[in-house]
Amino acid sequence: MRQLTLCTLLFALGVSIAAGLDCRCFPGDDCWPSWQQWADFNATIGGRLISTVPLGSVCHTTGEFSAYNQEACASLIADWGFPATHYKTCDSPMASWFSNASCDPFLPRTTPCTITALQRYAVNVSKVDDVQKTIQFAQDHNIRLVIRNTGHDYLGKSTAPGGLALWMHNLKATEYLQYRSCSYEGPALRLGAGIQGFEGMAAAHAQNKVILTGNCDSVGVVGGYSQGGGHGQLASMVGLAADQVLEWEVVTADGQHLTAAPDMNPDLFWALSGGGGGTYAVVMSATVKAYAEVSTASANLTFSGADVPPDVFWSIIRNFIVDITPIIDAGAVAIWAVIGKTFSLTPIIWPGGNVDELQMRLASTLRMLNERNMTYAFHIQHFVSFWDCFMAMNPHSNITEAQIGGRLMPRGVLDHSTDSLISTLRQISEQGAVVSGVSLNVSRHSVPDNAVNPAWRDAAISIVLGTSYNYTNRQVNVECQSLMTQELVPLLTDISIDSGAYLNEADWKQPDWQSAFYGDNYQTLHEIKEEFDPNGVFWARTAVGSEAWTELDDGHLCRSDDL
Ligand SMILES: Cc1cc2nc3c(=O)[nH]c(=O)nc-3n(C[C@H](O)[C@H](O)[C@H](O)COP(=O)(O)OP(=O)(O)OC[C@H]3O[C@@H](n4cnc5c(N)ncnc54)[C@H](O)[C@@H]3O)c2cc1C
Ligand SMILES: *[C@@H]1O[C@H](CO)[C@@H](O)[C@H](O)[C@H]1NC(C)=O
Ligand SMILES: *[C@@H]1O[C@H](CO)[C@@H](O)[C@H](O)[C@H]1NC(C)=O
Ligand SMILES: *[C@@H]1O[C@H](CO)[C@@H](O)[C@H](O)[C@H]1NC(C)=O
Ligand SMILES: *[C@@H]1O[C@H](CO)[C@@H](O)[C@H](O)[C@H]1NC(C)=O
Ligand SMILES: *[C@@H]1O[C@H](CO)[C@@H](O)[C@H](O)[C@H]1NC(C)=O
Ligand SMILES: *[C@@H]1O[C@H](CO)[C@@H](O)[C@H](O)[C@H]1NC(C)=O
Ligand SMILES: *[C@@H]1O[C@H](CO)[C@@H](O)[C@H](O)[C@H]1NC(C)=O
Ligand SMILES: *[C@@H]1O[C@H](CO)[C@@H](O)[C@H](O)[C@H]1NC(C)=O
Repeated sequence: MRQLTLCTLLFALGVSIAAGLDCRCFPGDDCWPSWQQWADFNATIGGRLISTVPLGSVCHTTGEFSAYNQEACASLIADWGFPATHYKTCDSPMASWFSNASCDPFLPRTTPCTITALQRYAVNVSKVDDVQKTIQFAQDHNIRLVIRNTGHDYLGKSTAPGGLALWMHNLKATEYLQYRSCSYEGPALRLGAGIQGFEGMAAAHAQNKVILTGNCDSVGVVGGYSQGGGHGQLASMVGLAADQVLEWEVVTADGQHLTAAPDMNPDLFWALSGGGGGTYAVVMSATVKAYAEVSTASANLTFSGADVPPDVFWSIIRNFIVDITPIIDAGAVAIWAVIGKTFSLTPIIWPGGNVDELQMRLASTLRMLNERNMTYAFHIQHFVSFWDCFMAMNPHSNITEAQIGGRLMPRGVLDHSTDSLISTLRQISEQGAVVSGVSLNVSRHSVPDNAVNPAWRDAAISIVLGTSYNYTNRQVNVECQSLMTQELVPLLTDISIDSGAYLNEADWKQPDWQSAFYGDNYQTLHEIKEEFDPNGVFWARTAVGSEAWTELDDGHLCRSDDL
């Protein structure tokens, strides 16, 4: 209740309130550096400073950044759904909510093109020195700093209104090595901060090895993904992405260039390995475990429930989710979704698995479809390598044009409260939301001591919900957001009280985010944040320590104490 009043107050007072508060300096404020100061800074970093020009500028005829061009605008709109349209830039978030319709290409061209909600400048990082100088400049001028890699983040963690971004995307080095430490001896890859899934996989493939990466192959490997947990098609085989990291190479808030490993800066190593990106330090590179290639069994399936009663449709889904459990426990991962009356499995992947056994595990689901004469598409195949399987079976991912919420569903709920799980998913689906799940087991082997949300270790399914996003209708988005926060996520919470959510695939308005995203680790993580970044140089929405600052409606970031 107190929080609600505060938000209303801030909204009502708008810009003027920032004046009397302790806030980060915002463009237009008196404290904002002059053109000359920016130019001088630019000179110290070899001309690597980029001034934001929003992608949508080619779609507008008015506003400071307008640069209307009919053809360029049409092709931007046609390509908008591709992740590359955004990850090649230093400012465009894939989750459109966080651009706050700033220079939205889908709005009428006469709508002014502004960049209020986007970072104002970015540094195209090429080396440690760029990062050190940028941190110093941001501190000297009290500017909001953000670390941006691909811009995939669903919670707006790589977007900073009026801020300065450390853009890590071009750190593309990879190195294959034999790693030796007390805890691990074997093949590894050192990956630059900008390496994306497809590049990391290719570097491993060149050595006939595999590494864990995200299902969407453009997600960064060692940025928010590994730092926040990170699941992928090898997760039931090897654990989460945070579990793969042997050492992190970082620059801290006070400019030190350090290595964090189990025996070197162990607190920082612990926090970076699962405690969330963007808040403890700037990762320059990470060294991750690599594994021998493995033959892989895989299948995909799509069926429609349009011609059968909903009870039948959901009983088949129930059957599927339960039947695959033994092979999930044996190393498989299943990626599935229910969109309206369509179920799709895209795909199930079983590294090291046997294709006949996979077929057997899916047999009763297929029998149910056959008995009902339902149309479906099914494909099953043995691949000689995980690489071949990924290339053939993993569908191309677009950006997620939805507002999302999520919950880690414990194994106990799947095993002992199956009916309430299925009826809850059905209820959510019938309210128009997309229900997606990744069935996996990330605790088959002993797991390292790191900051991964403990709820992950009991999870059988990472459930992610989506409500629609409309580029031209803010009111619809506000309503869908509130539906997610107030109704849909709570339905999942009700059946999994002691669990949590995956911090990278959750509702950015999750009310009790500290416990939901970090579990019992929050207090310790907060202490590590205080130790390594006492002045709050790094800030990201829902990151550890972020409650010390409050984002005003106009984008100012102010110390919460004063509010
Ligand atoms: C289409 C799509 C598919 C996805 N699929 C998967 C999946 O299969 N599995 C999965 O686990 N997740 C998945 N995700 C979620 C993904 O893990 C998160 O979006 C993650 O935050 C992306 O990290 P990034 O570094 O690429 O992105 P960014 O948005 O650039 O950064 C995310 C966060 O990490 C911080 N960060 C980035 N780089 C660094 C760095 N070098 N040092 C310190 N902090 C840094 C940023 O400050 C920010 O807080 C998916 C997301 C999308 C949009
Ligand atoms: C920084 O300097 C480079 C090289 O002189 C220049 O190309 C670039 O436009 C400058 N950046 C800004 C924001 O002025
Ligand atoms: C993905 O995005 C592209 C580019 O905007 C679009 O053409 C395509 O239809 C989208 N695909 C799906 C499945 O939505
Ligand atoms: C960023 O730097 C890389 C080299 O590190 C260069 O290839 C690229 O063109 C630069 N990008 C921008 C937008 O300046
Ligand atoms: C499926 O089709 C067969 C053959 O056409 C028919 O005999 C059977 O009754 C149908 N079953 C259902 C459930 O509709
Ligand atoms: C399943 O995978 C096959 C082989 O790669 C592909 O051709 C097909 O389109 C996929 N089907 C579904 C339903 O995803
Ligand atoms: C994971 O699999 C192991 C067996 O390999 C099982 O003991 C454990 O309960 C499973 N955990 C979850 C969360 O499914
Ligand atoms: C988005 O909202 C606009 C304006 O209300 C409406 O015309 C349009 O149909 C909506 N788009 C979608 C995809 O629902
Ligand atoms: C976001 O949009 C709202 C509504 O247009 C506006 O009031 C607010 O100032 C914007 N905030 C930022 C940071 O762009």
